Amino acid sequence: QSQESQVMLEAHQWLTKLYHHLLKNSKDGREAYQYLIDRGFTDETIQKYQIGYSPDSKDFVVTFLEKKGYHPQTMVKAGLLSANDQGDYADRFRGRIIFPLRNHLGKTVAFAGRALGENEPKYLNSPETELFHKGRLLYNFDLARSAIRKEKTVILFEGFGDVISADQAGIHYSVGTMGTSLSSMQANLLKKYADQIIICYDGDRPGIEAAVKAAKLVKSVGCQTYVARIPDEMDPDDFIQRHGGDRFRREIIDTSDTYTSFMMHYLRRDYNLQVEGDRITYIEKVLQEISGIDRAVEREHYLNELASEFQMSLETLKEEVQRIRSQSG
Ligand code: CTP
Ligand code: MN
Ligand code: MN
Ligand code: MN
Ligand code: MN
Repeated sequence: QSQESQVMLEAHQWLTKLYHHLLKNSKDGREAYQYLIDRGFTDETIQKYQIGYSPDSKDFVVTFLEKKGYHPQTMVKAGLLSANDQGDYADRFRGRIIFPLRNHLGKTVAFAGRALGENEPKYLNSPETELFHKGRLLYNFDLARSAIRKEKTVILFEGFGDVISADQAGIHYSVGTMGTSLSSMQANLLKKYADQIIICYDGDRPGIEAAVKAAKLVKSVGCQTYVARIPDEMDPDDFIQRHGGDRFRREIIDTSDTYTSFMMHYLRRDYNLQVEGDRITYIEKVLQEISGIDRAVEREHYLNELASEFQMSLETLKEEVQRIRSQSG
């Protein structure tokens, strides 16, 4: 690691402390702190995740980093300051709730700043830097790793709030993809620790579309794949805050669908099963999915389901699956 990135890393640790301090001890930070409490985060949680507040100022952080002896140009490279053409430096995060993004060693390597209220963008993140590559980092992996290994399971969420609320509710084996796309590098990393992966994305359209993609990827790296379904456009954070961790566990996690069940359900959206042609296309799509299952018992399980729903013979469906399997080698 270069000396410069060492310096950048160090500056991130200072700023983590500063932002957290300001959340708890500054006048403006108090509103942000209250917002977090109103969302249902406890003081202990705010401490644990070192959540902070960046003051609504052009140069508060500029001055702070200068006093600590950091070169502003390096801090721009670190994504902590911004610079204009005139060479003026300015704070990057202003008037936002700050979530430090930690690497696998628990060191802050970037920040995400959430607007207070409805301001846009909702989240402003650090840019890609030497320290931070969004597609390589899983939010909370450092804290969750041992629980993931122990449970052989990981829950995949979209957002910070989802991970934090789950943790607060006693579910410690979760990580966040910080948005919606899971990378194959992240999937392979999780595979090293977990046998099963439960994808628990938001209940809105983008969340469901992203869950399909993530599920395919996770399945392709050889993990048992489950997809949880969150009702009514809620997200996991909303659900946990509204109904508590026990209901979340019982009604969402424990009842999550297997990959194939999820796909059988999901594929329905595109077809009107009252229409004969649609029905046949749907059945073909599902058979395609079932063909990809390794275990014969499992294949038969879903084929039975399909056979009874559409009043078809199990034999016909089986033959078709065999045909697809022999084709795809
Ligand atoms: N995200 C992002 N940039 C955005 C929007 C979202 O990086 N402009 C990431 C964040 O990591 C966020 C996650 O995607 O946590 C999920 O997005 P979304 O569901 O829209 O936000 P929530 O996490 O639900 O945010 P909140 O509960 O604070 O409203
Ligand atoms: Mn606990
Ligand atoms: Mn979302
Ligand atoms: Mn969400
Ligand atoms: Mn949310």
